[in-house]
Amino acid sequence: MLVLGIESSCDETGIALYDTERGLLSHALHSQVEMHAEYGGVVPELASRDHIRRALPLTQHVLDAAGRTLQDIDGIAYTQGPGLAGALLVGTSIAEALAFTLNVPTVGVHHLEGHLLAPLLETDPPEFPFVALLVSGGHTQLMRVSGIGDYELLGDTLDDAAGEAFDKTAKLLGLGYPGGPALSRLAAQGKPGRFKLPRPLLNSGDLNFSFSGLKTAVLSIVNAEKSGAGELEEQVKADIAYEFQEAVTEVLTAKCMAALKETGLDSLIVSGGVGANARLRERLNEATRRRLCKVSYPRLEFCTDNGAMIAFAGAMRMQHATQRDYAFTVRPRWDLADLQKP
Ligand code: KG4
Ligand code: ZN
Repeated sequence: MLVLGIESSCDETGIALYDTERGLLSHALHSQVEMHAEYGGVVPELASRDHIRRALPLTQHVLDAAGRTLQDIDGIAYTQGPGLAGALLVGTSIAEALAFTLNVPTVGVHHLEGHLLAPLLETDPPEFPFVALLVSGGHTQLMRVSGIGDYELLGDTLDDAAGEAFDKTAKLLGLGYPGGPALSRLAAQGKPGRFKLPRPLLNSGDLNFSFSGLKTAVLSIVNAEKSGAGELEEQVKADIAYEFQEAVTEVLTAKCMAALKETGLDSLIVSGGVGANARLRERLNEATRRRLCKVSYPRLEFCTDNGAMIAFAGAMRMQHATQRDYAFTVRPRWDLADLQKP
């Protein structure tokens, strides 16, 4: 079965072709980062308009790359939510219109289910059940994953998501958008010891997170360290970035280990944009090795938003897709734990 996947929940148009027999055939991504950069964050209306421009040319591109045509497609999966309403509507309406003309079924995919299943696209994929750490710009969740659509929330952030904390802290340090990768690059130049930041909820005894206090603590340091001209020395910035990354990755790692202990599972997967963070991977590799547990990640390009994860999650549900009325709705807010098994 050949499934076309369409991702358009935020600032990336991702298109992919997944074959249930042969695996991922092709994928393509257009990032809007440059377009939004001058505004310091995503402008929803600009995002929607750009998805309209990109979706069909990218679809043609992935078909050509796989040596297939539209007529070969057996089903279409698209991100139905959560995300920006206008951006979701673009991908959704294109998917439903294409499916109507091709007379094939559609399936609306939960964006986070896409992230959650992305490590299964790799060779030597993890087997169910496993613990999943979902760390993106909008979410920081620990889940127990027992199968497709069988997700139990173990812990969540009480305020900012980890990616959001990276982005906001990067902004305080005068770095560009998106802040996560920029802050992580700067942290590599930083030295330990100059600043001390809290490790929020590290010993809370539960699996929840809180990252908004860290950003406030960084703000206090920034204000104290600024020169008369309101500038921060480059090394000061790097040392703050270093300590911030240490604080976030220490808490994320400790909670992952606690989740493995609490569930009695020995397999962890990490997904979402912050899952691309090298320091986080280093800490998790070390901690899981010590506990004789397995840790799996998507390849770097599938940590952040992409069409492959949507095509794959859709393919897992497509066998059960019976509805072909081509009516559609998007779900800008949608709880992952509400998903049912296919
Ligand atoms: O999963 P994603 O592409 O989009 C959402 O669904 O939110 O995640 C984007 C988030 C952003 O906050 C970005 O700053 C963060 O992931 N991010 C990183 C890194 N790469 C992306 N954060 C820390 N280190 C990175 N290397
Ligand atoms: Zn995402």
